[in-house]
Amino acid sequence: MTILELIEKKKRGLELSKEEIEYIVDGYTKGRIPDYQMSSFLMAVYFKGMSAEESTYLALAMRDSGDVVDLTDIIGTKVDKHSTGGVGDKVSLVLAPLAAYLGAKLAKMSGRGLGHTGGTIDKLESIPGFKVELPLQKFKDQVNKIGCSIVGQSGDIAPADKKMYALRDVTATVDSMPLIASSIMSKKLASGADAIVLDVKVGSGAFMKTVKDAEELSKLMVQIGEKAGKKVTAILTSMEEPLGHKIGNSLEVLEAIETLEGNGPEDLTEVVSVVTGHLLKHAGIVKNFEEGYKLSYQTLKEGKALPKFYEFVKEQGGDVEFLKDKKNLYGTTKIHVIYAEESGYLETLDALNFGLAACRLGAGRETKDDVIDLFVGLDLHKKIGDKVEKGDKIVTLYHHEKGLKEAIDLIQKSYVIGPKKRELKLIEETING
Ligand code: URA
Repeated sequence: MTILELIEKKKRGLELSKEEIEYIVDGYTKGRIPDYQMSSFLMAVYFKGMSAEESTYLALAMRDSGDVVDLTDIIGTKVDKHSTGGVGDKVSLVLAPLAAYLGAKLAKMSGRGLGHTGGTIDKLESIPGFKVELPLQKFKDQVNKIGCSIVGQSGDIAPADKKMYALRDVTATVDSMPLIASSIMSKKLASGADAIVLDVKVGSGAFMKTVKDAEELSKLMVQIGEKAGKKVTAILTSMEEPLGHKIGNSLEVLEAIETLEGNGPEDLTEVVSVVTGHLLKHAGIVKNFEEGYKLSYQTLKEGKALPKFYEFVKEQGGDVEFLKDKKNLYGTTKIHVIYAEESGYLETLDALNFGLAACRLGAGRETKDDVIDLFVGLDLHKKIGDKVEKGDKIVTLYHHEKGLKEAIDLIQKSYVIGPKKRELKLIEETING
């Protein structure tokens, strides 16, 4: 076969075989297929789509382009979760110690933030001494010992995806369902867990702007996971407004601790409990999701998993005493407060723009090489549906001068106070295999 024939075949909307897809992925990763032909192939996929089988073969070929982590040394069912990315999404920071406290084995590889979305690894780096890179054996030993570990993704996980994603980024082929689904799943499948819960964000601050698109992506990812022999559940959760109140790396660690103490925001507590409920079910720790959900929610509210968080931080070299003095997590930032100029209800709180505002302050990267400021960010005092009186605090900005004016301008046009009390649906749907 030749790449030209395969581009032609996809251009006509025909289905490619496993061998053909492997030929393309391997050829591109090893440099036999040049960027211009791969771009053409990706554009053909963009317009003609792929079946669930083709998407699975693509995910598996991308998985096999690099290391596939062997977690068999870890005793019990290994669980993992993945978020498609959002604003204020600190679910993993709460969920890892919670799941571990309740008896699950969570061996998680996480990413860094890019654009308006944050990344768990950056957040963890705001804890002095915390090591986000561990030798594989130490990573597995830690999960066996305390039940959880979170590390950065190793360099050789799905290199085909790295190369293809960079090409998609510059050829307008990112927003293709089969390409997104296989990209995400290739990395998840390479990370070695037996069961995966996908938190698919939907709304202004998410990759998927509509429930219909989020549903299509979720179904495809669940199918890919199942065909690869994994237990997979996808949950569609709202990213219409940021999750919780705090956005920014150290501020999100602080909110994770508050949630583990039992005093977290209701939306964050709910999403963590739902995702953990499914993980516990997949791990066989509870009989069904409802039991897992209730156990997770109650454990959070009683603050029982907090010591596990400190154990996790200590195990990865982080300074627990620093965390226990919460004012450390504000760093040496300055404060600017935005007040309500009218009364009513908060009707809109645009997640995308709040994420971008945090980015302008330095909390996120606009390009991969940007250096971030771990201590700047935003604290939202009101959420959608809350009553607001003129003069109430809406947002506090924690800043180091950089980007302050731009962030204020963005925020000023990103919330609406009006007469309607709006109810946001937090959990849109659950898709099981
Ligand atoms: N995240 C990924 O990992 N891949 C995509 O294609 C899109 C989002």
